[in-house]
Amino acid sequence: MVQPHILLVTFPAQGHINPCLQLAKRLLSTGVRVTVATSHFAIRRMKNGYEDGYKSRDDVHHYMDELKRVGSLSLSDFIASNTKQGNGFTCIVYSILIPWVANVGRAHDIPTTLFWNQTATMFAIYYFYFKGYGDIIRNNIEDQSFSVSLPGLPDLTTRDLPSFFIPSNQYAFALPSFKEQFDILDEETNPTLLVNTYDALESEVFKAIDEYNMVGIGPLIPSAFLGGYNKEYMEWLNAKPKSSVIYVSFGSISVLSKPQMEELARGLLDTGRPFLWVIRAKEGGEEEEELEKQGKIVPWCSQVEVLSHASVGCFVTHCGWNSTFESLCSGVPTVAFPQWTDQTTNAKLIEDVWKTGVRVNHNEEGIVEGSEIKRCLEIVLGGEEMRRNARKWKELAREAAKEGGSSNKNLKDFVDQIAKGC
Ligand code: UDX
Repeated sequence: MVQPHILLVTFPAQGHINPCLQLAKRLLSTGVRVTVATSHFAIRRMKNGYEDGYKSRDDVHHYMDELKRVGSLSLSDFIASNTKQGNGFTCIVYSILIPWVANVGRAHDIPTTLFWNQTATMFAIYYFYFKGYGDIIRNNIEDQSFSVSLPGLPDLTTRDLPSFFIPSNQYAFALPSFKEQFDILDEETNPTLLVNTYDALESEVFKAIDEYNMVGIGPLIPSAFLGGYNKEYMEWLNAKPKSSVIYVSFGSISVLSKPQMEELARGLLDTGRPFLWVIRAKEGGEEEEELEKQGKIVPWCSQVEVLSHASVGCFVTHCGWNSTFESLCSGVPTVAFPQWTDQTTNAKLIEDVWKTGVRVNHNEEGIVEGSEIKRCLEIVLGGEEMRRNARKWKELAREAAKEGGSSNKNLKDFVDQIAKGC
């Protein structure tokens, strides 16, 4: 049998690249060949050794259009030249926000599979939105008392739903891309969808959708591929008592306003606890020096290593799916501080479904005050229950990933399925 060759195409944001690289590794371990493709910009950024993030999303509409236009052409050329050299692809796997990759695959007669790199819950929310619930959500989402019951999901209020549903939200840009994605899936019969979760974590959601063959293949947790830079912070962590440190990070895209940063700093200082805070735009200066009397500020770190360090007791997170999944799989409870997109829904799951953390409340000006941050930190650091729950999900994640576990088996079944087409 010919060895299958998978082309894995990822949207060029770190939260998408990380799980795709892990997926590539898992696929390689099953004996298939894998080529990963992303934008030149993302590759340059990774070579620099750290994530510098997006400074502005003002031109994001234009960016998405250009990515589609330039990406479609260059991907098509890349596939054609590989095929010509006898190095063609058996299947293309692509992450979310780039549904046009499926059309490129079709033009070359190559089957494509969507890698849904957020929760199965998020997939279900978009699914029901485009399949019958769109009007009710659209017409009511600006009403703060609105709540919707979707099959297999907890009741979701306005603040739990993805920010892309709010028409007035400046970041509603991604909704057309999800619509295009569902149109593409609708042209296929019972397509397989690889999801970065594991079956036990979202079992009710898997049961609620039978139109697609959704399979959990996670956790896809990044290794230290961004390593090789200063890790002085690990020594700093080594010197701290067990479960004492608060780790704070808002992923690779989100930028907090200055007043919000000040409140966060106040909340952290008021706990009297040591903290490790990732500030991508770290510039030094007096304020940072003051903070470093109690904590440590870094522009980037190897997050998975930090989360698995014994001294880390709590994670203040923006609830990006990778950060959320990484904390669950490390058994670290969280203070959920969502910003946008799927993060609001992930915060709901953390607080009410998986029960591994508490979610912050905003004041009337939309700021989370220092006293609120301190309150949440004290709940998370003070009790055993959330830590116990986090440890439970960590164990179940290991079960899912090990030989014969649900995610391991689901991925092997997928590879067997595409190998039959060789
Ligand atoms: C984006 C979206 O914002 C998120 O909501 C979606 O679920 C995925 O895509 P991002 O905001 O970057 O991602 O957050 P997240 O999903 O948490 O991914 C960030 C990645 O960068 C994580 O894998 C994390 O481990 C890594 N990271 C972050 C580091 O390695 N070091 C750091 O200092 C900060």
